[in-house]
Amino acid sequence: MACRLILLLRLTLFAAISTAPKIAAVDQPMSGCATECGELRDIPFPFGISPQCCLDSSFLITCNTTFSPPKPFLGKSTTIEVHNVSLDGLIRIYVVVARNCYYQSGTRIEGMSKNPQLRLSKFAISNIYNKFTAVGCATAATIQEIGGQNYSTGCISQCRNLKNVVDGSCSGVGCCQSSIPKGMRSSNFTLIPFGTKVPKFAPCSHAFVVEEKGFKFSSLDLKDLRGKMHVPVVLDYAVGEESCAEAQYNPRYKHEPFGAADWKFLGILDVAEEKAH
Ligand SMILES: *[C@@H]1O[C@H](CO)[C@@H](O)[C@H](O)[C@H]1NC(C)=O
Ligand SMILES: *[C@@H]1O[C@H](CO)[C@@H](O)[C@H](O)[C@H]1NC(C)=O
Ligand SMILES: *[C@@H]1O[C@H](CO)[C@@H](O)[C@H](O)[C@H]1NC(C)=O
Ligand SMILES: *[C@@H]1O[C@H](CO)[C@@H](O)[C@H](O)[C@H]1NC(C)=O
Repeated sequence: MACRLILLLRLTLFAAISTAPKIAAVDQPMSGCATECGELRDIPFPFGISPQCCLDSSFLITCNTTFSPPKPFLGKSTTIEVHNVSLDGLIRIYVVVARNCYYQSGTRIEGMSKNPQLRLSKFAISNIYNKFTAVGCATAATIQEIGGQNYSTGCISQCRNLKNVVDGSCSGVGCCQSSIPKGMRSSNFTLIPFGTKVPKFAPCSHAFVVEEKGFKFSSLDLKDLRGKMHVPVVLDYAVGEESCAEAQYNPRYKHEPFGAADWKFLGILDVAEEKAH
């Protein structure tokens, strides 16, 4: 499927080159297809907001008009909100964070998800753009592949006072990060209380996968992640297929995601296609 997609994009690009020097021609939607859902604009093919308008059901974006403005969700999901779609083979979604908070008495505050799951049938969590992150001062967090023992990792964050917490640094004092493996499609994050005391200035622990550039740790996050319930995650939709284009050689990783499309994109598709044969 990824091969087909790449070929398809490439053919479209060829057409685009010969007619107009503008890469925007690639994302021409099928005629008669809506390309907007709330704040998500210019939804490019292969994505579409109705089954007739997308390449196949995995590229469907469900526009829920119950919300105002309407909200776009990935596939038939009612929780995975789509934030951006780029022709670079990347899609940015919002994913819920795991949160565990305690009252001063030490009792856990209920009603928060201590171990949410992210299930993706088709797209992989980009290992290049995201990091598994935990925030807290008595926090251990793990990320596991759902339904498999193939993969599990995590990190530990500890702090006794705010003085040692450095804004912008996720090296284990207030915030820690670990890499995620290539091709992970589903994951389960778990928060494990760690140590015996939760400091007053950090009543909550958090764990999430996040776009590295989309999260800058601040000591203010130790309270409640500054109110954030969801964080951006980048998914990869053109790579991660077993028989098809694989990421290690892919020069698009030198390239900014979600930036203005440019001509480098052409070279990228060429390489991906060659490798696919
Ligand atoms: C739209 O969202 C509402 C509120 O979350 C939900 O009840 C409803 O089932 C959703 N509709 C669709 C078509 O997903
Ligand atoms: C999620 O992770 C926890 C802790 O590692 C594990 O006990 C649980 O079985 C996992 N759930 C699934 C569905 O994989
Ligand atoms: C775990 O690895 C085995 C062997 O490589 C593979 O067959 C299996 O599909 C993997 N499980 C998951 C859930 O990816
Ligand atoms: C991504 O989404 C944000 C907010 O909806 C928007 O401001 C931004 O322009 C989008 N970027 C791209 C490349 O579509």
